Amino acid sequence: MSSTFNAIPEKYQINNLVEQNTYLVEGALIPWRGETSNVYSTISSVPRPDYQKTLLGTIPTLGKKEAIRALDSAVSAYNKGQGLWPTMKVVDRIACMEKFVEQMKTKRSEVVKLLMWEIGKTLPDSQKEFDRTVEYIYDTIEDYKQMDRNSAKFEKHDGVHAHIRRGPLGVVLCLGPYNYPLNETFALLIPALIMGNTAIFKPAKHGVLLISPLLEAFRDSFPKGVVNIIYGRGRTVAAPIMQTGKIDVLALIGNSKSANALQTQHPKSNRLRLVLGLEAKNPAIVLPDADLDLAIDECIAGTTSFNGQRCTALKVLYVHEAIVEEFNKRFSAKVDALKFGNPWEEGVKLTPLPEPDKPLYIQGLIDDAIEKGASIINTKGGETTENYIFPAVMFPVTKEMKVFQEEQFGPIIPIVPFSDIEEPLDDMAESNYGQQVSLFGRDVKTLAPLIDTLVNLVCRVNLNSSCQRGPDVYPFTGRKDSAVGTLSVHDALRSFSIRTFVASKDNDYNNAILNNLLDSKASNFVNTDYIL
Ligand code: G3H
Repeated sequence: MSSTFNAIPEKYQINNLVEQNTYLVEGALIPWRGETSNVYSTISSVPRPDYQKTLLGTIPTLGKKEAIRALDSAVSAYNKGQGLWPTMKVVDRIACMEKFVEQMKTKRSEVVKLLMWEIGKTLPDSQKEFDRTVEYIYDTIEDYKQMDRNSAKFEKHDGVHAHIRRGPLGVVLCLGPYNYPLNETFALLIPALIMGNTAIFKPAKHGVLLISPLLEAFRDSFPKGVVNIIYGRGRTVAAPIMQTGKIDVLALIGNSKSANALQTQHPKSNRLRLVLGLEAKNPAIVLPDADLDLAIDECIAGTTSFNGQRCTALKVLYVHEAIVEEFNKRFSAKVDALKFGNPWEEGVKLTPLPEPDKPLYIQGLIDDAIEKGASIINTKGGETTENYIFPAVMFPVTKEMKVFQEEQFGPIIPIVPFSDIEEPLDDMAESNYGQQVSLFGRDVKTLAPLIDTLVNLVCRVNLNSSCQRGPDVYPFTGRKDSAVGTLSVHDALRSFSIRTFVASKDNDYNNAILNNLLDSKASNFVNTDYIL
């Protein structure tokens, strides 16, 4: 790997630490004078061989007491469904969200800079994460308006009038992942809030300081206690919150170990709704008649974007034995041609890994695969620096290898040759995961029955393209251990709400009351106002 050190452009240098010394509870930024934790970047500010991680700032190490205070704040803002926020008119909740997003937009450069330093995401991808999140908020607002328009009416069946809407569920504990610390956390938090829930949100371990520039926007845009933001270790702050049984929704994108650990803390599991995005091991299946140039380009993007640290990344490539030699040769050369560097460098594709232990973990997968008969087939595969390990293309990979079994979430690419299509299908059926697949081929007689099977094994079949979550209007979900619930702009609004309605028998007495309710506009629920 190139060891040339490119000086950090002035606008991306870390000149001031982000000293996050407050947390958001009860509508106020509460000063914290207790223990703090340092936040480091694995990116060095000095050239090698003097590599050293860079201190970015500090966050409060909150304890159980502060966590419960945040919970109480959210519980009292919900106030058994009587709170200002859950009973507010839709149009007023939307106004709060619009105020928030307007203020958020002014913080773009600060958030983007921290995204690069905290998680090593490239400049264009960091900008995309920010812009995609802003767009997601606007799309959510539009979808919610439409949902409200659709329910601005009465129905009548069997002599019963009904006014049906979607109502909030209560208090949401929201935890996001390090690979999309802004976008995926907000893909949970924003729909949860707009539907009238109140929330406690704990930022991810890596990608935590980038929330700091947005704290004032949260404080200024929502009523007291609606959004509460806390810091600290999951075990110390999230577990006690769950143990109270006062959480109605656990919204988590990340690891199933954390999700399971938190779920089991809740004393009444039937009361807890889950919205989870968990692990995946999305395969690519490359058929003998596939357009190889296209398949290789898509597999490069699928396996190496953000160093493979995406739940939708292609994590195993099944390539038909008739073309595997050619595929391997061209694929490996393209992997080796990818540029490694710091996130702001022009044309960079591979960037430092935010988890200091990741290179060692990947090396362990390489060693295990080699011991069991695979080789690294690209020249640079496995080259290591203090904060990186170059993507290793491993071939031939078999089921006994750890890299086949585990979700690597990092730069290593297993290739499995196959002769019979039943081999990848059987593996997918046996797998614990079921998010997406990429299918490369052309002949419709082969593709048709395969598509019909694959849609029953995963939740998205990507034809001649890599796996991905977007566009965000499409359903994002998974089978088996990959997800609980569905997230898209529209589906997320449903996931964070429940159908609830007012019913009344069709008689003069009730009808006069309904008319009165409508004319007086005294109820925010029984209301047929149409939001334009
Ligand atoms: O980490 C998993 C993400 O949901 C992947 O999203 O396909 O937009 O990168 P993406």
